[in-house]
Amino acid sequence: MANDRRPDDMVRITTPELADAFIEEQIKALKEQVGDKKVLLALSGGVDSSVVAALLIKAVGQQLVCVHVNHGLLRKGEPEQVISVFRDQMKANLVYVDASDRFLDKLAGVTDPETKRKIIGGEFIEVFAEEARKLDGIEFLAQGTIWPDILESEKGIKAHHNAGGLPEDMNFELVEPVKILFKDEVRVVGERLGLPANMVYRQPFPGPGLGVRCPGAITRDRLEAVRESDAILREEFAKNGLEGKVWQYFTVVPDFKSTGIKNGERSFEWVVIIRAVNTTDAMTATVENIPFELMQHLVDRITKEVKGVNRVLYDFTPKPSGTIEYE
Ligand code: XMP
Repeated sequence: MANDRRPDDMVRITTPELADAFIEEQIKALKEQVGDKKVLLALSGGVDSSVVAALLIKAVGQQLVCVHVNHGLLRKGEPEQVISVFRDQMKANLVYVDASDRFLDKLAGVTDPETKRKIIGGEFIEVFAEEARKLDGIEFLAQGTIWPDILESEKGIKAHHNAGGLPEDMNFELVEPVKILFKDEVRVVGERLGLPANMVYRQPFPGPGLGVRCPGAITRDRLEAVRESDAILREEFAKNGLEGKVWQYFTVVPDFKSTGIKNGERSFEWVVIIRAVNTTDAMTATVENIPFELMQHLVDRITKEVKGVNRVLYDFTPKPSGTIEYE
């Protein structure tokens, strides 16, 4: 494919005009590469895969098959948004797989963080490969690889985070239309492709999802407390002008209970920890100064609305000494 590497003199895509020119160029290149063949894409709903999907829909329409795997560890409303944006609005050929039970059953009783990650990653590949085998005539695999991924894998910092993982007999040709772009450029392109702002400018979300925010062995009820408290936090940050300003924010529900009082009676329930941090490269991070009134409002809503929770804490720990996630 043309433009294998980012040209040294490439102008940073910061304006709608530059984004439009890139989109036009890529659509042409994609049409040439794919021809009348079929392309498969694992669509997570994250910025990179969403922009790749939107580009391919424009270039080859129904020849693109998007597979959205719900591993049961997504945030509230995420699978619904992927379906509404891609299937309903963009008329994409979208296969939605609700594999929640399969993932949660495999994760039952598993406490070690790295084992949890391995199970989630391995199961994801399996589910995706199973779906791929059901489809006929796929020749291409699209991926949301971006320029920093290529630089980091060249420097040996991380294994190419997208490529690989699929069984060896599935040797698709890769389609990577945003691989010469930096993240900020992908966002500008995404906006011009008509993707919703909350999808294009969303905060980073780890691949293992809420699984690493439910420390220790994941249980369905504690996972639900993570999901519901996260939804309240995101809603309140959006209402109070913190969405897009704070780099990453989420909730964690550790595996212990504390005593409290609810409706005049003793309760023995979980604790929600709120984390809100700012960083540029995620190597170090500082803690956001959340207004006290907002903090009080969050405590009030979370303890009243989230089942099984009677206490809310704020994590004041920068990175280092704490990492951003809890495991
Ligand atoms: P830590 O916790 O190491 O996180 O300070 C730094 C950034 O990386 C994200 N993170 C992950 N992303 N898979 C991912 O795709 C993972 O297993 C993972 N663990 C951490 C984290 O959300 C933060 O943005």
